[in-house]
Amino acid sequence: MTAQQAVQWAQAQLQAAEIEDAPREAHALVAACLGWERARLIAHPDARLNGAQIRRLHRWTRRRAAREPLAYLTRRAWFYGLPLTVGRGALIPRPETELLVERFLHWAKQDALTPCPSPTVQERGDAPVLVDAGTGTGAIALACLTHAPGWRAIGVDRSRRALRYAQINRRALGLESRLLLAQSNWLRGLRNTSVDAVLSNPPYVLPDEWDALPPEAARYEPKGALLAPAHDPLQPYRRIARDARRVLRTGGLLAFETSPRLAPLIAAQLPAWGFAQPQIMHDYAGAMRVVWAITT
Ligand SMILES: C[S@@+](CC[C@H](N)C(=O)[O-])C[C@H]1O[C@@H](n2cnc3c(N)ncnc32)[C@H](O)[C@@H]1O
Repeated sequence: MTAQQAVQWAQAQLQAAEIEDAPREAHALVAACLGWERARLIAHPDARLNGAQIRRLHRWTRRRAAREPLAYLTRRAWFYGLPLTVGRGALIPRPETELLVERFLHWAKQDALTPCPSPTVQERGDAPVLVDAGTGTGAIALACLTHAPGWRAIGVDRSRRALRYAQINRRALGLESRLLLAQSNWLRGLRNTSVDAVLSNPPYVLPDEWDALPPEAARYEPKGALLAPAHDPLQPYRRIARDARRVLRTGGLLAFETSPRLAPLIAAQLPAWGFAQPQIMHDYAGAMRVVWAITT
């Protein structure tokens, strides 16, 4: 079977299963089966798949037709230009989360330029520290560290399985000396006034939104990474914010990713949790996505 025939076959299977972008996904599946990038596949349509590659293609196409996310099959996702290893047990990083990274990078750059009455991160001399609370694959922390070379990070998650992916990604990106990973209930174990930024993308799908999720997410991604507590959806934000108040140094950044439904509620509560003047950022689709504030 040639690569081109394999793509045609996979595309027909995916179309029959009503997968939305079947041509693109068929290319991605065949490329991953060959261990190639998609550009190489397009350049070599006559390359032949060996027996093991054909068997893998059959297996992966069947699983994809059953709605298993492509990223779990290929074990690869891209986030902020970084290739990450992903798999069952860890949330697949989403493009909208890149806005949280942008908020951090913009703030970190400004802080370097703005004289501040309190000791700024630069004046202190030691490396500033950010915390990624609920780090999953490590996506947020790794993207921030890649673009903010003077920083260090702590990534915490309660899921040991998710942390294993964060460890793999940290090693692959050569960031072992700058990212500490720990199993923890949010910011519980951190010392007072020990960090400069707290970033978090906590679970925020509301119970009445669950049935509208694509089957890829609802059936395969960890519920504990997606679903907000039914009785108290703001609970993760409140716990993180109250502890962030304690662990952040003056002038530090707290930034959350959230949903358009929860964003105004979080912004309304942040002053009571110790953060005056919260701001809301919209994503590229115009939806309220990031809520952030600075400690005073
Ligand atoms: C929406 S996912 C975000 C993953 C990753 N930061 C990203 O943006 O792709 C939420 C993460 O929070 C973790 N989590 C949920 N409850 C937690 C808790 N009480 N303490 C620490 N982590 C928690 C989940 O295991 C999951 O990895």
